[in-house]
Amino acid sequence: MGRLDRRGFLAAGAATFSLAALGTASGGAAPAVRPAAPPVADAAPPEVVEVELVARPRLARILPEPAGPTPVATYSDAFPGPVIRMRQGQRLRARLVNGLDEHTSIHWHGLRLPNAEDGVPFLTQAPVPAGATHTYDFVPPDAGSFFFHPHCDTTRLLGRGLAGLLIVEESDGPRFDADLPCMVKDWHLEPDGRIGTVSTDRGAARAGTFGNVATVNGSIDPVIPVPAGGDIRIRLFNVDSSRILDPMLEGAEAWILAVDGIPMTPRRLDGWLAGPATRLDIVFRAPKTGTVRLVNAYASTPRPLAAFRAEGTPLSRGRFRPLPLPAAAIPAPDLARAETLRFDFSATAVARAFAEADLAGLPFADSLCLSEKTFWAINETPWPDAGHERLPPPLAVLERGRTYVLELANLTPHLHPIHLHGHSFLVLGSDKRSLPRHYADTVLLEPRERMRVAFVADNPGDWMLHCHIIEHQETGMMGFLRVA
Ligand code: C2O
Ligand code: CU
Repeated sequence: MGRLDRRGFLAAGAATFSLAALGTASGGAAPAVRPAAPPVADAAPPEVVEVELVARPRLARILPEPAGPTPVATYSDAFPGPVIRMRQGQRLRARLVNGLDEHTSIHWHGLRLPNAEDGVPFLTQAPVPAGATHTYDFVPPDAGSFFFHPHCDTTRLLGRGLAGLLIVEESDGPRFDADLPCMVKDWHLEPDGRIGTVSTDRGAARAGTFGNVATVNGSIDPVIPVPAGGDIRIRLFNVDSSRILDPMLEGAEAWILAVDGIPMTPRRLDGWLAGPATRLDIVFRAPKTGTVRLVNAYASTPRPLAAFRAEGTPLSRGRFRPLPLPAAAIPAPDLARAETLRFDFSATAVARAFAEADLAGLPFADSLCLSEKTFWAINETPWPDAGHERLPPPLAVLERGRTYVLELANLTPHLHPIHLHGHSFLVLGSDKRSLPRHYADTVLLEPRERMRVAFVADNPGDWMLHCHIIEHQETGMMGFLRVA
């Protein structure tokens, strides 16, 4: 036993799908797949967790009747998931079956994995053609909250829901009375439930094209039951392509335990901006009765995301004290001997023309006859096109084992969540805000902000560096670093 087989995986998904389809008030808890297995002995080969991920169109109910179900694309019958849960030390073997009508691959966001498993078509692997399969096989080195998604045609596919969560549980550390993944995502929906326009030139050239229906685990403002009086860990995943979150819990004192899956000194949840791709592990004490509300305060009036309702006989847990999670074993950057590389994130002349037309009140895209949709650049070099077929040269070649400080400068009036593959970097600071030092794989640059991050380039290969507002990525704000 101890193996997550396909049947168990799909059964978990099916159960959740029918819950969602029934629209129960307590819908919204993400489906979990938790293999029960003894701890891994030191010398033994890692135990294998096997999953099959069939990427294909499916139907899901997001809007209530009389709207129809939404034609989505997902990796399993679990909606919106799936959630793969495994323990640190286990090996993941994930078989992707491509049931889409285009080539695809899976990128395992935030994992420090071997380059060949990173899932970037043309750069780290051949794309998986429609109808074909591909198996990913690696041992996640760190515990934490990660996710996975395609790396091509991403605005459209993520817009249809193609993403899943990967939770690697730590082997020790504080105990929680509940551990709830919360996948936050907006949808672009027509009143009848169909997917509307997920991208416009206007959005792509500015802050991104925003959805109109906010969901947590595929449900609109779900009520999620939690054990009364218990210590609740929520894992917030911002899997949206453009939405910035400032998550707040109304009715409970909440603390951040980890950013992008990597533990940090617990800190009050109070104004932590979580851009696309950011994950926050949060703990709060559930009240004895009543409800705690999760809202997005990054709006003129806070927008509801979900509610946690205390249920059952209240647990007595003593005074609430958020304990740190066990620290991750990420190689510490050697700042004294680091080399600094500067990356400027800017708009292209095309995007600036768009912005000016807009200011002058001209009708936007249609008035400008644009031959190319290249709106963004890194060091003045835009990625050649939306796909990955034409690879540019690397932005920089890094010496393996050496520490690098990346100075990330946002020269634009928009926010950009900048993500580096294959490494977790130490966020050193910003010229605008005071931030605690913490590890992350995506850092949100505010307008005109400059941030510094450091990491040991210990993972050989070609690693994408890009904005995780996917429309920005696909209109030029993407490149890669080569660790050789
Ligand atoms: Cu989640 Cu290259 O991205
Ligand atoms: Cu961006």
